[in-house]
Formats: sequence, C-alpha cells, structure tokens
Amino acid sequence: MASTTPIIRHAHLNDLDKIAEIETSAFDHGWTRDNIRKEFGASFSVMLVAEFDDEIIGYISAWKITGEIQINRLAVVDAWRRRGIARELIKMLIAHCRMRPPYKILLEVREKNTAARALYRSLGFSENGLRKNYYRDDNAILLVKEIEQ
Ligand SMILES: CC(C)(COP(=O)(O)OP(=O)(O)OC[C@H]1O[C@@H](n2cnc3c(N)ncnc32)[C@H](O)[C@@H]1OP(=O)(O)O)[C@@H](O)C(=O)NCCC(=O)NCCS
Repeated sequence: MASTTPIIRHAHLNDLDKIAEIETSAFDHGWTRDNIRKEFGASFSVMLVAEFDDEIIGYISAWKITGEIQINRLAVVDAWRRRGIARELIKMLIAHCRMRPPYKILLEVREKNTAARALYRSLGFSENGLRKNYYRDDNAILLVKEIEQ
C-alpha cells in the first residue's frame, strides 16, 4: 500500500535515472549520471532518497569517513520544497551513518545559495571558512557541525 507521507530509504541502482534527473534540474553544473552511478559502488558512500507514491522527490549523498560525514549532494524537487524533506534527509543520513561521537559533519555550499545556508543554519551547522572562487561563478562556504555525544 502506498504511504500517505514521504518515506526515506537507501537509494537503489533503479533510482539512478530519477536522481540524475533531479540533479540536472537542481544544479547548473551538477554530477553526471556516471558520477552518481559510481557512488553505488563505493563502500564509504551513503545515498538516501525521499519517496512518495513511488516517485523520488529528493536525495542526499554523502561519504562516511573516519570521524567525518562529508555531505556531497542534496536536492529536493521543486514541488516538494519547504516541506521539511531536506531536513529529514539530513537527520536520517546522520541516523543511518551510526557514527560514534565525537565526529564532524562537513560540506561546502555556494555563498549565493541562501536556501541551503538557511537550512544548515537551522540544523546547527556553523560557517567556518570561505574558499574564494571555488565554483566557476561563486565562492564556497565551509559548513561544519560537531557532534560531541
Ligand atoms: C536547499 C534545498 C535542498 C532545501 O530543501 P527543502 O526540502 O525545501 O528544505 P526544508 O523544507 O527541509 O527546509 C528546512 C529549513 O531550511 C530553511 N530553508 C529551506 N529553503 C529555504 C529557502 N528557500 N529560503 C529560506 N530558508 C529556507 C528554512 O529554515 C526551512 O525551515 P522552514 O520551512 O520551517 O522555515 C532545496 O531548496 C534544493 O533542492 N535546492 C537546490 C539544490 C541545492 O541547493 N542543494 C543544496 C546544496 S548544498
């Protein structure tokens, strides 16, 4: 039976086309289909999708490395934005990684990406660095959240 609210689960290779489609619509210079496919073969990679009515509506992709979770990709389809999907994906990523504190969650975000910066701020991330001209047309802000216990 279809659920009445979105569910969050591990991504499968079957989800690749839809993830690639969302990636293309969400980012100007996003990951290619091949970049995403490679994540499925990496032991340190964790990819979750949000699904509603058999449709993928968002995803998060991260690397689980010793003492760190590095968030690489996060996107939610337009029609589902501002409904808490990204926040839930991040929370579920942290739960799925089952890291033993202390550890850090790290990522880079475009300086102009006010939506993503607001999202991470609301989850207690701090902005602790700037990489000038990291992207073709923007600087990168380094974000970190330290999980102590
Ligand atoms: C950034 C993005 C992932 C947010 O997804 P989302 O599901 O809409 O986010 P949520 O609904 O979970 O938002 C949680 C909080 O983040 C903040 N936020 C999210 N989008 C925001 C926006 N457009 N403007 C201001 N604050 C925003 C708010 O504090 C929000 O809480 P609220 O709705 O209760 O006020 C989505 O806009 C997206 O896919 N953007 C394109 C791709 C992208 O930029 N990815 C991030 C790269 S690091």
